[in-house]
Amino acid sequence: MSGTGATTENQQQAECITQSPAWKALLKHRETIKDRHLRDWFQADPDRSVKLSFQVEGLRVDFSRQRLGLETFRLLQNLAQTAGVAACRDRMFAGAKVNSSEDRRVLHPALRYLGPGAFPSSSLDVMPDIREERARMRSFSDQVRNGKWRGFSGDTIRDVVNIGIGGSVLGPKLVVHALAASRHPRLRFHFVSNPDSASLAPLLDSLDPRTTLFVLASKSFTTRETMLNTASACDWLCAAFKGQRETVLSRHCVAVTACPDYARELGLGDANIFRIWDWVGGRYSLWSAVGITIALAAGMERFEQLLSGAQEMDQHFMQAPLAGNLPVLMALVDIWNTNFLGAQTRTILPYCELLRFLPAFLQQLEMESNGKSVGTLGQCLDYRTSPVIWGQIGPEGQHAFFQLLHQGSWLVPCEIIVSARSNFPLSGHQESLLANCFAQATALAFGRTASEVRMDLESAGYADDEIARLLPHKVLPGNQPSTMLLLPQLDPYHLGLLLAFYEHKTFTQGVIWGVNPFDQWGVEFGKQIAECLQPALRGEVELDGFDQSTAEYIRWYRRYGTS
Ligand code: F6P
Repeated sequence: MSGTGATTENQQQAECITQSPAWKALLKHRETIKDRHLRDWFQADPDRSVKLSFQVEGLRVDFSRQRLGLETFRLLQNLAQTAGVAACRDRMFAGAKVNSSEDRRVLHPALRYLGPGAFPSSSLDVMPDIREERARMRSFSDQVRNGKWRGFSGDTIRDVVNIGIGGSVLGPKLVVHALAASRHPRLRFHFVSNPDSASLAPLLDSLDPRTTLFVLASKSFTTRETMLNTASACDWLCAAFKGQRETVLSRHCVAVTACPDYARELGLGDANIFRIWDWVGGRYSLWSAVGITIALAAGMERFEQLLSGAQEMDQHFMQAPLAGNLPVLMALVDIWNTNFLGAQTRTILPYCELLRFLPAFLQQLEMESNGKSVGTLGQCLDYRTSPVIWGQIGPEGQHAFFQLLHQGSWLVPCEIIVSARSNFPLSGHQESLLANCFAQATALAFGRTASEVRMDLESAGYADDEIARLLPHKVLPGNQPSTMLLLPQLDPYHLGLLLAFYEHKTFTQGVIWGVNPFDQWGVEFGKQIAECLQPALRGEVELDGFDQSTAEYIRWYRRYGTS
């Protein structure tokens, strides 16, 4: 990656990673192992699962069911070295402007820095601001939780509605759901992103304005969807209380933003505005005041445990050599599958209800960060970058798309995440969950051979002609690669460890692919077009400037739509 201040050496690397000896060595290596089945890999090495498993604190990651060996790892590490991963990482942590196209620093690790003193350095210390906002978060969340914070009519808060989209909601939604076991018993949490009124309107119908608090999260405080939902929520509050707008909002709304002026324009006072900064990327922001909903749900102490898990991963990422650096290894395995084995997608399969929103979170984190085909220097890239990320809770996926994973025609690397203990123990449930999880992972890797199917059918008493008819349908080829992520328990600390692990994995891939993982110009363009379309839908402008199909859609809406 080559933001402001990058070395010429790094710039050259970003331009020609596929021409590097490291990349070429991997291509050559692939030819020697591409036909090897996971069964062969395991047969050849009885210690494979130990050798290819790595651990940071409680997070254990097993790569042994990936289609690679120790030599592959060695060559992949050369690639990471060639791309300058360590140097780019150090520059990010030192506060260099690695977000080159937006000319910004990237300092989300500072948000989880819990130590004393300055970060990233005494000459560029962002900690005083962060500590001040943390203290404000603590005071506010404590007041709401202990009932001292009262609504306009003097009632305690019962419902918290987090309005935001993308990075301003996906992290908090994931974490609030994941920490359900420690949620405050009086408080209920709701997340609204979609500007479709079918999202907000029925929710408002079910709420009592006297006991409702809105968290309005938007880094820019201009995102259309969020501003629309915000305006409707404020109107609903003001209509309910008939009080002075500023006073009503001061009891029922807080904003989180890097643009406090816009929040003030809405009628919010400074006491109700939590700050974030331009060096916090939206999809890396849950550790900031964007996580206020997490603090409201689980308490500031648990929020800090989350930060502490993430900080542990930061330290590991900074200090561990590439050969044992977990986020780096994870990134390399994904690159192996994407760029050398030809996988186009990757599926995220949490065998853990509490991680229900992890696939959605990772979709933004990885695809918005690395879904790019232009390098940091503006050059077109002739290789694939982020695969398509998708996924679902494992057991639900089993009864939906796993058939395709087992017997379909696509190579789909699978990521399975599981925790040993349940936070909601019910007799027998955890064993059943884990049995399914481990069974699926085994079937994906090793499949079921024709002779195994034959033996089963014979012992079940099938006649020869029946066996011949059924056998091809029952064979599972296996060799579908998977990575298993094992956690002891889904507590705030391990969740922080896991999410920071994915952030650094994504960053590492951005460096190797030579893209800027911190901008999102493709999405920005969509926002611009929507701006022009809105007056057209309202019939306020002519349709000459639109392409013919868009003009047709607008005519269709003008004919059938209602506002
Ligand atoms: O999807 C584009 C994006 O800019 C994301 O990067 C961001 O997380 C989201 O919109 C919301 O932006 P904001 O926090 O400014 O409302």
